[in-house]
Amino acid sequence: MAIESVAKRYVTSSGPVDALDDISLSVAEGEFCTLIGPSGCGKSTLLGMLGGLVMPDRGRLLVAGAPVTGPDPRRVATVFQDAGLFPWRTALENVEFGLELQGVSAERRRRTASELLGPLGLRGFAERYPRELSGGMKQRVAIGRALAIDTKILLMDEPFGALDEQTRVLMGEWLLDIWRRTRKTVIFVTHSLHEALFLSTRVAVMTARPGRIKSVLELTMEYPRSMESPEMVALRAKLWSEIREESLRAMQST
Ligand SMILES: Nc1ncnc2c1ncn2[C@@H]1O[C@H](COP(=O)(O)OP(=O)(O)O)[C@@H](O)[C@H]1O
Ligand SMILES: [Mg+2]
Repeated sequence: MAIESVAKRYVTSSGPVDALDDISLSVAEGEFCTLIGPSGCGKSTLLGMLGGLVMPDRGRLLVAGAPVTGPDPRRVATVFQDAGLFPWRTALENVEFGLELQGVSAERRRRTASELLGPLGLRGFAERYPRELSGGMKQRVAIGRALAIDTKILLMDEPFGALDEQTRVLMGEWLLDIWRRTRKTVIFVTHSLHEALFLSTRVAVMTARPGRIKSVLELTMEYPRSMESPEMVALRAKLWSEIREESLRAMQST
């Protein structure tokens, strides 16, 4: 996957907003690449472009070697902060949804979705409706819906952003396990240093708007990672100082 010299300006009633300016990044197959940066630096815009929902003004985006021209649900699935479940569908039916759009037969849909419930930690919750599920469970259903269609690429825009700290940590552990088993390419947006360091093969720090890549951190430690190792503590301090600098800039410019 490649982002090549991409720029995006939004035109709003209060004037133009340069969301992204000349941003480039390439992500290899099977990577877990995290984007981290101050609010408004264009992370969601970038993910939207990779998903084919937002078009760049300049530059180009390649997914599996081909330019992105629009949404391609066979190749890319996206998970957002808000689970966005259908309230009138059970957990199982929500997981099945993407397969329905793909025209998969009812029997195969049911089988694929049912098999996912175990790894999702939702066995026994198949027939529950979203209102009967906790925040973490709802988010796992949303991730299940993305996993069911089995794309090579998974885009995750602050998927755990609405969860409490403890649930987030557990969800991170859970996601790590899923990713290591499926070996999908993940692009993950978060504000959490913990998540970035615990999960990623690479962390790209973005600048305050207009967003560019400020630095890229390669993380080669084995999984599961100890967050207390001296190496990790040092990386955390380094990452924090870079993010802090950009967050201060973002605060001063608004
Ligand atoms: N559809 C839109 N129309 C106008 N401005 C937008 C739109 N989407 C995002 N923006 C602006 O572009 C900038 C980047 O937004 P976004 O990509 O959501 O950043 P992030 O996800 O990093 O917080 C922000 O200033 C935001 O207000
Ligand atoms: Mg965002």
